[in-house]
Amino acid sequence: MLNIVMFGAPGSGKGTQSDLIAARYSLMHFSTGDMLRAEIALKSAIGQQAQEFISKGNLVPDELIIDMIRQRIDGHEAEMNGFIFDGFPRTVAQAKALDALLQERNKKVHMMLDLQVEEDKLIERLLLRGITSGRSDDNMEVIKNRLDVYNSVTLPVMDYYKQTGRYTGINGSSTIEENFERIVNMIESVDAAYAGLAKQ
Ligand code: AP5
Ligand code: MG
Repeated sequence: MLNIVMFGAPGSGKGTQSDLIAARYSLMHFSTGDMLRAEIALKSAIGQQAQEFISKGNLVPDELIIDMIRQRIDGHEAEMNGFIFDGFPRTVAQAKALDALLQERNKKVHMMLDLQVEEDKLIERLLLRGITSGRSDDNMEVIKNRLDVYNSVTLPVMDYYKQTGRYTGINGSSTIEENFERIVNMIESVDAAYAGLAKQ
């Protein structure tokens, strides 16, 4: 079993790398951002609540996010080797709730991978994506707020994982392929047994 928290600022490549890692190790990929955008597209009650927060670059309330994860976390044991959480947890309250949810199931987060990228590169990537993404939050004004929220509210989550010995920083500034290679080496250096989970 391998349960990973993928951490990093907006545009650091959490989604891109989580897709690759999930495919390599057969992990269930949970992106709270993707889940919320799907709810908005469905015009569900959750989507209507979330839209205002997302379009301003603010965090959606913890309760709503934790409920969304709680509803989806069971039932994947048979076919998957674990989870990769992308864009979650984003507050210390979410991190504690995730630990409790997993503990109730005799599971735990094995590692947090923190993708480190300079701010000007993050902005460049997000503005470039904004040309075609249709995301209401990929514009300069909202990107600035997303970065502020990350630095003030989300960064302390890193300390929470550092204090519990599960933190690893990764340079995320290179190409997608180079970053992925670095991540694979890191995962398999934490425990060589994880290599055995990889699809051949
Ligand atoms: P979310 O969807 O999680 O967005 P984010 O964290 O702002 O980050 P992104 O998804 O924009 O970036 P990413 O790190 O995934 O990078 P990506 O791989 O896409 O959250 C959106 C909103 O939802 C939040 O603001 C909040 O309102 C709400 N929300 C979500 N989760 C929440 C939670 N837990 N609690 C409360 N609220 C929550 O890459 C970015 C771009 O760069 C792409 O175009 C990609 O192709 C490109 N790229 C990636 N890697 C490279 C590379 N190495 N070189 C060049 N380009 C690259
Ligand atoms: Mg993402």
